[in-house]
Amino acid sequence: MSNRYQEEYDRSIQDPEGFWGDAAKEIDWIKPWDKVLDSSNKPFYRWFSGAQCNTCYNALDRHVEAGRGDTTALIYDSPVTGGTKKTYTYSELRDEVALFAGVLAAQGVSKGDRVIVYMPMIAEAAIAMLACARLGAVHSVVFGGFAANELAVRIDDAKPKAIVTASCGIETNKVIEYKPLLDSAIEIAKHKPEHCVILQRAQATASMIDGRDVDWTGAMSTVQPAECVPVMATDPLYILYTSGTTGEPKGVMRDNGGHMVALKWSMSNIYDAKPGDVYWAASDVGWVVGHSYIVYAPLLHGCATVMYEGKPVGTPDAGAFWRMISEYKINILFTAPTAFRAIKREDPEGILIADYDMSSLKSLFLAGERTDPDTLHWAQEKLGVPVIDHWWQTETGWAIASNCMGLHPFPVKPGSPSKAAPGWDVRILDDDCNEVSDGDIGAISVKLPMPPSSLLTLWNADERYLSAYLEDYPGYYKTSDAGYKDEDGYLYIMARTDDIINVAGHRLSTGGMEEVLAAHPDVAECAVIGVADQLKGQVPFGFLALNAGVERTDAEIIAEVVAMVRDKIGPVAAFKSAVVIKRLPKTRSGKILRGTMQKIADCEDYKMPATIDDPAILGEIDEALQSAGYSSART
Ligand code: COA
Ligand code: AMP
Repeated sequence: MSNRYQEEYDRSIQDPEGFWGDAAKEIDWIKPWDKVLDSSNKPFYRWFSGAQCNTCYNALDRHVEAGRGDTTALIYDSPVTGGTKKTYTYSELRDEVALFAGVLAAQGVSKGDRVIVYMPMIAEAAIAMLACARLGAVHSVVFGGFAANELAVRIDDAKPKAIVTASCGIETNKVIEYKPLLDSAIEIAKHKPEHCVILQRAQATASMIDGRDVDWTGAMSTVQPAECVPVMATDPLYILYTSGTTGEPKGVMRDNGGHMVALKWSMSNIYDAKPGDVYWAASDVGWVVGHSYIVYAPLLHGCATVMYEGKPVGTPDAGAFWRMISEYKINILFTAPTAFRAIKREDPEGILIADYDMSSLKSLFLAGERTDPDTLHWAQEKLGVPVIDHWWQTETGWAIASNCMGLHPFPVKPGSPSKAAPGWDVRILDDDCNEVSDGDIGAISVKLPMPPSSLLTLWNADERYLSAYLEDYPGYYKTSDAGYKDEDGYLYIMARTDDIINVAGHRLSTGGMEEVLAAHPDVAECAVIGVADQLKGQVPFGFLALNAGVERTDAEIIAEVVAMVRDKIGPVAAFKSAVVIKRLPKTRSGKILRGTMQKIADCEDYKMPATIDDPAILGEIDEALQSAGYSSART
């Protein structure tokens, strides 16, 4: 049966140029494109080639010039600093961004230069990103929960001319000083940025290095605002590093033009948002959700967006989200299911909701991990609004599958993020690249070309882009998610096919953690898998086999590897548990049986691998997991 979703979906697949060419009319271009979809260098597709534009202009100046300068653009709310609140209108935000672009320009930053932004959830993080976009510089935001070493890896890959940071972030009630982390990262890195711009916050004062470090506030008082610099639609807007299958992160590269077109389109058609609505993505600017739906999409669409420096619980209680909704009349909320699990755990009856006026809320969108049916039903019942699970990745930049609330909402099926969104030709493939039947599990893949705003390539790593995403299934993008499609076209995302785990909506590589554990002098071999966790979805769990003759206690070594992961990757890895076992289960050819270990952890049936060298070791793994407290899910 035809409906608006189906019509739009069909057109987007049959006539992508017509579809996205029409969507692009919502954006102001300095020069129009020569081609909507440029396939001249397949599989490196480009959208809107030949066009010139500026993303910051479309996010800010355009609204001011259209007479909407006095409407709210950005709301900053910070329970962790004693309730600091600040609202920026579009005019005010444009002026701040233009001034900060002036600061960056004064440090020598210009079109094409990279700028790393290592900031907590404060308005200045968005201001720094938009200022880069204004100059045509390429930002790379690094999540605050990563350690100095991870920051150093990103500095060496992106080679930034400047780094923007703050003196500290605040995690509930802990002050995390950023400057020592930054200084140590720059020391570790081979590449040295010319300048660092530091925002001094009241909670910590950063010591400054003469000649390199520049004070944000001081610099803002002496510069002239910078104008928007025209860039090609195909020029990079940002690099966002995400976990790959090794400790080396992948620098996902996104353009200016296609990014704007797809995000603007998604606001009306997926989220059913209207200009002037208050749209809150309770995530972090360090993640793709923060890039797309805290900073760019709401502003491109003329909404008010929200920067919340707090947690769903503990700042001060499980009513924090409801306070935000009632205080700012939030219309659309977007967060990760783990945030709702945290709220539900503290206030299972949702009693705190009654203290607030929730009448503005129209819908709740969840992503980052599968929405478990319990959380879905709880949110539906307690909030009384549509709850939409939607599936996407850092690489795609926006939802591959979602109920499109602005087109034609479908009935929700728990456990499914609904159907492919327009633009995404999703196929479920077997190992030979053939489509499987409805209901059969396979590799979820997207037929090329992907729609605008999906990654262009990996920064400085075209070959890795091809080998990581495009080689296994020729003609398709490999999502590395496995799952199936039902007879109604609903998708079910079941598991990653690589070593990525999802911890509280944060994407982490177990391979990266194994690299850290393996560096411990007493560890002969190790494996890390993700075990089910009721709050965070998954948490990492390590197995260590020690060198012969080690006399120190297991507890000492475990404490040391836990500290090493925190130090090398960061607290966000949430690596807190490991056990020492005699040896790891392996095939006779020496391959560690991680898949079997994962099945034991997930309490799934597994076949005894025919090539296993020592079957008894699997019983030891099971016991170790149970005695470490992962037995509740095992009954
Ligand atoms: N800077 C510094 N440290 C950070 C940090 C940041 N930006 N973000 C997290 N951390 C630290 C935390 O303080 C914690 O440290 P600890 O081990 O000393 O306690 C550790 O990293 C793990 O953090 P987190 O996974 O966030 O766990 P939590 O127990 O503090 O909070 C939730 C749990 C569920 C409340 C929280 O993870 C949450 O709100 N998640 C939403 C996730 C989200 O928005 N994901 C984005 C995708 S949409
Ligand atoms: P990230 O790149 O951090 O956004 O993580 C992307 C990965 O998170 C996906 O490949 C999925 O494995 C998982 N993911 C994100 N959203 C969903 C969802 N709605 N349902 C199931 N898995 C999801």
